[in-house]
Amino acid sequence: MKVAVVGIGALGCLLGAYLGDGGDVILIGHWPEQVATIRQSGLWLENPDGSRTHHMPAITQNPDEVGLVDVALVVVKSRQTRDAARTVAKILKPDGLAITLQNGLNNCATLREILGQSRVTVGVTAQGATVLGVANVRHAGHGPTYFGRDSTLGPAQLDCLPHVVELFNQAGLQSHLMENIDGLIWGKLAVNAAINPLTALLRVPNGFLIEHESLIEIMTKAANEVAEVAHAQGIVLPFPDAAEQALRVARATAGNRSSMLQDVDRGVPTEVEAICGAVARVARDNGVYTPVNVRLCRLVRKIEGGNPPLVEPGDVNGLLQLLADDSIR
Ligand code: PAF
Repeated sequence: MKVAVVGIGALGCLLGAYLGDGGDVILIGHWPEQVATIRQSGLWLENPDGSRTHHMPAITQNPDEVGLVDVALVVVKSRQTRDAARTVAKILKPDGLAITLQNGLNNCATLREILGQSRVTVGVTAQGATVLGVANVRHAGHGPTYFGRDSTLGPAQLDCLPHVVELFNQAGLQSHLMENIDGLIWGKLAVNAAINPLTALLRVPNGFLIEHESLIEIMTKAANEVAEVAHAQGIVLPFPDAAEQALRVARATAGNRSSMLQDVDRGVPTEVEAICGAVARVARDNGVYTPVNVRLCRLVRKIEGGNPPLVEPGDVNGLLQLLADDSIR
C-alpha cells in the first residue's frame, strides 16, 4: 500500500517519521527549504521519553514525482485544504482513499467536493506534535487515532481502511476504526475549542490549562457548547462527556504546544475560524448560544498574523478579565 502524507507541519513530520520507517510512504511539502533539508539530512524526532531518533522519509515538493498512491493522509492547515485536494487529485488512484487528519470543520466537505464522496473520510488523532525546527519535531505525547468507516465510502475504500489501521498500529501509533464520522469531527472540534485558543492566548503548553481551576471551567464551557451544537444537529459524540475528553487530551499531551499556539508563535493565521468560528456559525443556524466560543474566537483573531499578544505568558487573571469584557469585538 503506497501512502502520501500531504503537509509537513508537526503532524505530517511525525507521521513521516513513524510510518516512513517501515512502509511505502512519501511526504509532500510545499516549503522548498524544509523539503530540501529533510531530503538531504533527514528528520529528527524528540520522543515523549526525551530520546531523539533520526528518520529518512521519502519526500518531495513535486506531486508529479510521486506516482499513484492508494492512500493520501491530508494534514495541512484547514485554510490550505483546497490546494491540498488539488494535489491529492493528481496522485490518488481512482479507487484510492483520502483521509483528513486536520483540525476544524469543513475539511472533509472540501476534499469530497474535489475528490468525490466515495474517496474521502475523516480521521482524528490525539497525537501531540510540536515543530522545533525545519526538520526537527517533538512528539509530546501519544494519543489514539480514529478513522471514520463512513458508509458512503466505496467498496475499495472500505476494504482499504483496516490496512491503514494496521499500518498505524504496526508503526506504534495506536489506531481504531469508528462508524460515526460526524461524531468524530464534532468530538475533535470540542477538544480543539477547549484547548487550542486558551493555549494560544496564554502562550502555554496544554498541561498548563489543567493546573488552573478557572481555566478548567472555561475549557468545560467551550467543550460543552460544542457538544450542544452537535446534539442540536442530531450528532452523537463518541464519548459521553466532551469536557472530560478535552481534559483527558490536555493531560495526555501536557508537554505539547498546541497547533494554534505554534501558529501564533510563527505569526501566521490560526485555525480559530475553522474551530470556534465554525462552531459559532453552526450554533446560530441551530438556535444554540455559544458565548465562550465566540469570545475565544474574537480574542484569538486579535493576536494572530504577527499581532502583539493580549496578555503576558501564563497571565490567567489578565485573560479572565478579557474574557469577561463584553465590549471586545
Ligand atoms: O491542535 C492540536 O494541537 C491538537 O489537535 C491537540 C490534540 C489539541 C494537541 O495539542
